[in-house]
Amino acid sequence: MKVPLFRPKLGKEELVNLKKVFKTGWVGLGPMTQELEKQFAKSAGVDYAVGVTSCTAALHIALQALVVGEGDEVLIPAITVVSTPYAALYNRATPIFVDVEKDTLCMDPKDLEKKITKRAKAIIPVHLGGHSCDLDAILKIAQKHNLYVVEDCANAQGALYKGKPVGGLGDIGCFSFEAKKNMTTGDGGMLTTNDEKLAAKLKALRWYGSSADTWKRFTGNTKYSWHYDVAELGWKYNMNDIMAAIGLAQFKKLPKVLKVKDKLRAKYNQALKGISWLETPKDQPYTKSGWWLYVARIKNGWRDKFMEYMAENGVTTSVHFPPVYQHSYFRKIGITAYCPVAENAAKEIVSLPLFASMNQQEFNYVVKIIKEFSPLT
Ligand SMILES: Cc1ncc(COP(=O)(O)O)c(C=O)c1O
Repeated sequence: MKVPLFRPKLGKEELVNLKKVFKTGWVGLGPMTQELEKQFAKSAGVDYAVGVTSCTAALHIALQALVVGEGDEVLIPAITVVSTPYAALYNRATPIFVDVEKDTLCMDPKDLEKKITKRAKAIIPVHLGGHSCDLDAILKIAQKHNLYVVEDCANAQGALYKGKPVGGLGDIGCFSFEAKKNMTTGDGGMLTTNDEKLAAKLKALRWYGSSADTWKRFTGNTKYSWHYDVAELGWKYNMNDIMAAIGLAQFKKLPKVLKVKDKLRAKYNQALKGISWLETPKDQPYTKSGWWLYVARIKNGWRDKFMEYMAENGVTTSVHFPPVYQHSYFRKIGITAYCPVAENAAKEIVSLPLFASMNQQEFNYVVKIIKEFSPLT
């Protein structure tokens, strides 16, 4: 049997929505995108949502909208993907790496406080794998030092922190609809905020820096208005209606997807209990739902051997993520860091298959294979 790490839940609902887009012929940024933005904002408990091409793009323009630039420092957890520090680098700011908490692998508020200097301008906490960060502690530090908070929610659609959806608790939230996420548009992303001015700025930045995208100029006008002004350097980062058509169908499925993943996680916890060389995730009580990953720890230095063994038996596993500053690019540009908790955890963590269409047979097979692992033979 072969079990992938992720499998998107795509079907006729997405095709029905795509058909509607084809019928109207409006495939660019338009009514479907607006509808997804409206629904997404409501579920994230925010006033505004802005659809973009990826979470990488979202993080980039989030910092630009907050006027983070040259000479500024942005505090980023050691365990994330390059998109998070890239957001700082794209804006000519410097990423400063903060160690993570041992159990959650999210930004450690104690190390955060230690790393703040006079140049600090923003913090990007990452809700890793869907586990929400210790946001109260992080927001308190941000307030004390007058720093912006951009939540990286790429892994965390539907995650709750103390009962509130993530993405609306800082200044801006950034989500990913990349192929492997709990909801996908192939590639895609969403920004969330409660600030009207920031929302307007983000909308301009995703569309060349212009305040009037084609749909805005087209709607309500019998005569297509050609006139618009570009007031600042922007990008072509807008979501389009093909993506949004898929996104709307995916969004409808999201509550069910999250429910199934919650259950699968609980089943893994139960089934893997008592294995001496494996630790199940230690979740904090303040986080709920919205899981993207199931991250176990393989002790005794056996992690790599375990992953090889799983692959030999048809089960895909992965590591989310090694400390991001260990990529050679950061050394090349003179950025180094040492975050011991992240570096030690990175030797043990392994993500197991977790997706909503995982059936009982697949689940049982993964657990059976894990239990048969004997590294000393
Ligand atoms: C924590 C984190 N931030 C940002 C991203 C970037 O998301 P995207 O692929 O939508 O650009 C990812 C992608 O997996 C991620 O895991």
